[in-house]
Amino acid sequence: MNYLRFLEQLHARVRPERYLEIGVRWGDSLSVSRCPSLGIDPAFEISRELHTEVQLFRTTSDEYFARPEPLTPVGGEPFDLAFIDGMHLFEFALRDFINAERHSRPTGLIVFDDVLPRKAAEASRVRETKDWTGDVYPMLAVLRDYRPDIVMMTVDTQPTGLLLLMALDPSSTVLSDHYDEIIAGYRKPDPQPVPQDLMDRTWVQQPQRVLASGVLDVLPDARGHDDPAQTIRDAVAARIGPALDLTKS
Ligand SMILES: C[S@@+](CC[C@H](N)C(=O)[O-])C[C@H]1O[C@@H](n2cnc3c(N)ncnc32)[C@H](O)[C@@H]1O
Repeated sequence: MNYLRFLEQLHARVRPERYLEIGVRWGDSLSVSRCPSLGIDPAFEISRELHTEVQLFRTTSDEYFARPEPLTPVGGEPFDLAFIDGMHLFEFALRDFINAERHSRPTGLIVFDDVLPRKAAEASRVRETKDWTGDVYPMLAVLRDYRPDIVMMTVDTQPTGLLLLMALDPSSTVLSDHYDEIIAGYRKPDPQPVPQDLMDRTWVQQPQRVLASGVLDVLPDARGHDDPAQTIRDAVAARIGPALDLTKS
């Protein structure tokens, strides 16, 4: 399944009240949104029909999130769905996740593009290929090692896979507290040592299976719960189970 078709399904299931997109370009992924949306990209050139109220900011995500009130354009309320597809370098991806989680609801869903490079050259920090994932893929290991509280799923979409992150903790400072240590430990020089099982997609979920499991429908239902993160973890365990726990790489 193409990533845009899967994103369309995510919007339908999660029914977000506010959507964040980091990396907009021509508006392909933004055109899927039907709720108030905020798009950040220093060089967007929208050429797709947009179907909702969109606030676009022609700046980098780091600059945007340095402002005192980043949620003001969406009424001061946090996001239910975020798509991170901006600068495809590890340190940018890490900061984008930190900022997206801080401004998400605990019941929010954060989606990373480009976590499954098909060959090491595609993951180079210095771009060598037409299709470029960059080194976003170490985010899998970082989140597995530092944030075991987050529910993670890699999804076998075309062309370069998606990572779904649920049971968020907007108050967590674990990643920002360990930022320098994480960069030193997980950012590697080219050629990128992409794990073979990741390129082979050994542990990934089939998109149809994720959609059919009902796991995404849990997110809007958990919005009113006292401990939504635990509600989400329990529901995912019941619907998907440990056998489909991915991200071994
Ligand atoms: C792969 S494209 C996004 C494609 C879009 N999400 C889609 O699927 O239709 C990546 C975009 O990230 C933008 N970008 C690069 N550096 C960025 C940064 N620091 N912050 C936000 N966006 C950035 C680029 O200008 C480019 O338009």
